[in-house]
Amino acid sequence: MIWMDDRFMPESEASVSYLDRGYCFGDGIYEMIRVYGGRLYEPSAHYERLERSAAEIKLSLPYPIEEINRIVLELLKRERLEEGTVYMQITRGVAPRAHGFPAPGTKPVLMAYCGAVKRPVEAMAAGISAITRPDVRWLRCDIKSLNLLGSVLAKQEAVEAGADDVILHRDGIITECSASNLMIVKDGVLLTHPANHLILNGITRAVVLELARKLNIPAIERPFTLQELTAADEAFLTSTIMEVMPIVRIDGSPVGDGLPGSITRKLQRAFEDTIP
Ligand code: PDD
Repeated sequence: MIWMDDRFMPESEASVSYLDRGYCFGDGIYEMIRVYGGRLYEPSAHYERLERSAAEIKLSLPYPIEEINRIVLELLKRERLEEGTVYMQITRGVAPRAHGFPAPGTKPVLMAYCGAVKRPVEAMAAGISAITRPDVRWLRCDIKSLNLLGSVLAKQEAVEAGADDVILHRDGIITECSASNLMIVKDGVLLTHPANHLILNGITRAVVLELARKLNIPAIERPFTLQELTAADEAFLTSTIMEVMPIVRIDGSPVGDGLPGSITRKLQRAFEDTIP
């Protein structure tokens, strides 16, 4: 069951216009919310970010957030979803192909669906591997835009290198991963890139920084270099899907002793406690 064209419909009935601006230009935004025990995790933060992304690209939402939330909750109910994710995207609508915005009155198109996604418990226990690559994305990574080609190409390089994910850097400054934020630990201090235009301000990132504060783990939001990454005691990524995911190998070399670090594990446990 998906929501499109102002109604719920079976997947088989859903179709996209060849002139949809999301399809032609990537002219739109999206959000992904976790579902645990049939309930949305941190919905307000995700809806706030959706509204912000829309405002930053001068897109007006087709319905108020309260209505979008009602649609999302109805999807969960109809699918009887217990553990998974809800995906929603809004494009600037269907209009003759021209780069400038379409005529006033062109209705933005909301599409939403949900699906079962398990918590990555085994990977969270063992840790994953990553490679490092230049960050070739645009300079507004704070917007959750449908334009994901920079992330797609970087992630594919990881796949082809036999690694699980890719850590991006701009001229040697670590930004984030292809679809998650990155944190490292050095001498007991947590470091992560500041939430500016070069990264997506992750909801999981914010939860983890707040947990670090509560656990008296010093956390600094400042740019750090590839060299600092290489010398880190621990590294982990954070995202809606991956939660707190240890990275135990980077570019073929072990991070610290090659096992998930103690601060990472502490934050994993604390994160798990926030799941209702
Ligand atoms: N990715 N950075 C980027 C580039 C992302 O795409 C994401 C989310 C994050 C983490 O944000 P959050 O903690 O709010 O999920 C950071 C989504 C899940 C995706 O594109 O699949």
